[in-house]
Amino acid sequence: MNYNKKTVKDMDVKGKKVLLRCDFNVPMAKDGSGVITDDKRIRAALPTIQYLLDQGAAVIACSHMGKPVATFESYKKKQLEKGKDEASITEEKWKKSLAELRMEPVAARLGELLGKSVILADDVVGPDAQAKAAALKPGEVLLLQNTRFEKGETKNDPALAKAMAAMAEIYVSDAFGAVHRAHASTAGVADYLPAVSGFLIQKELDFIGGALANPKRPLVAILGGSKVSSKIGVINNLLEIADTIIIGGGMAYTFSAAQGGTVGDSLLEEDWKDYSLEMIQKAKDKGVKLLLPVDTVIADDFAPDANSQVVKAGGIPDGWQGLDIGPETVKLYCDAVAGAGTVIWNGPMGVFEFEKFAAGTKAVAEALSKTDAITIIGGGDSAAAVQQLGYADKMTHISTGGGASLEFMEGKELPGVACLLDK
Ligand code: 3PG
Repeated sequence: MNYNKKTVKDMDVKGKKVLLRCDFNVPMAKDGSGVITDDKRIRAALPTIQYLLDQGAAVIACSHMGKPVATFESYKKKQLEKGKDEASITEEKWKKSLAELRMEPVAARLGELLGKSVILADDVVGPDAQAKAAALKPGEVLLLQNTRFEKGETKNDPALAKAMAAMAEIYVSDAFGAVHRAHASTAGVADYLPAVSGFLIQKELDFIGGALANPKRPLVAILGGSKVSSKIGVINNLLEIADTIIIGGGMAYTFSAAQGGTVGDSLLEEDWKDYSLEMIQKAKDKGVKLLLPVDTVIADDFAPDANSQVVKAGGIPDGWQGLDIGPETVKLYCDAVAGAGTVIWNGPMGVFEFEKFAAGTKAVAEALSKTDAITIIGGGDSAAAVQQLGYADKMTHISTGGGASLEFMEGKELPGVACLLDK
C-alpha cells in the first residue's frame, strides 16, 4: 500500500469549506457526567484544525463516538445477548445510552483548546447541520453530531457519504484511530471530494510506516496483551520484519502450554497452541530471535491483593495463575531493548492495573524511556501504561490508534488511508 499521500499542505484551502474527519472518540467518565477523562485525541487534532483556520478555511469537523445502537430493537437484542433481563431493558435506557454519546462535551473541550467557540450541529447531515454548514464562514469551526447516529455510517452508505461531501469542497482525514474502518465518513466520502490527510495521519504514517518499512536496526517488537488470537496478524507480519520479537502478557501462557509447560489457571487459548508452535518455528526459519518469558509472577487469585510468588515459566501449579513476567524475564527483555535501534511496543506485560503485578510493564516502559532507540508505542493499553507511568514524553511516538495501529502493524490495507490522493 502506498502511504505517500497528499496532505493539507498540497491543497489551497483558503475560503473553502473543509470536511475534517477526526477521531474524537474520547474516554468519558463512567457516571454519565459528560466529563472527558483523556483529551489526547482532541489535542492531537489541533495542529490540522489550527492550520486550516490560519489558512482561511471554514472547518466542518466530524467524528464518531462509541458504538451507538441506532434502533431500540437492536439495542434490546444486544442487551439480551449480554444476558440482561428483558424487563430491565427500557426505551429510556436506550435513549440515555445515545445521549451519553453526543458530541457536546467534545465541542466544549475543542472550543477551550482552540480558544474560540465551536458551533455544534444537532445532526450529521440533517437540516441543522446543513444550515449551519451553509452559513459557516472562514475561520469558524462547526462540529457535526456523532457520525454513528446515522445508520449508513458503519455500512459505508454512499448516500450518506454524498450528503456529507455536499456540505464541503475538500475532505481532510486526520482520524488515524479510525482509518481501519471503511465507513462513510472515513472512506466513502473520498469518492465525492478531493481527499487528503491532516498532520496527525501524516505523522502516524511516517513513524509507524517508517519503523515497518525502513527501521533503524535491530528492530525489536514487544508484544503483550491477553490473547494470542488478537495478535496473530501482528506476530505473523512482524516475523517478516523484526530482528527480535518479545512476547509477554497473558498470551505468553499459550506459548508456554504449547511447549509442554504447565500454566495452572493462567489465561490459555487451547485453540491457538498449534499456531504458537508454528510461530516459534517460523522465527527459527527466519532467523528472528523470539524471546519468551523464563519466569513469571503467579497469583492465587485474579485480584490486586492476591498472594504471589515467582516461579519458572511453564511450572505454574494448579490454583495459581500468571499475572506478570518475572524478574529474570524483565532483565532479558530490558537487555534486548537496550541494544535496539527501533522498538515497537504493543500490549502490556502483565496485569499492570494491579500494582502488585505491574513491575514487568513498568520495567519495560522504563527501559524504553532510557534507550536511544526510536520508540513507538501502539495505542490502547500500552499507550495508557506509558502515560500512567509518566514516561509519555520520553517516547518517540505514541500512536492515537488502538485497532488502527494494530492493523497497520499487521500489514493490512487501511481504507481510511487508501482512499486519500497519492502524492
Ligand atoms: C478507537 O477507539 O480505536 C477508534 O476510535 C475506533 O473505534 P471503533 O473501534 O469503535 O471503530
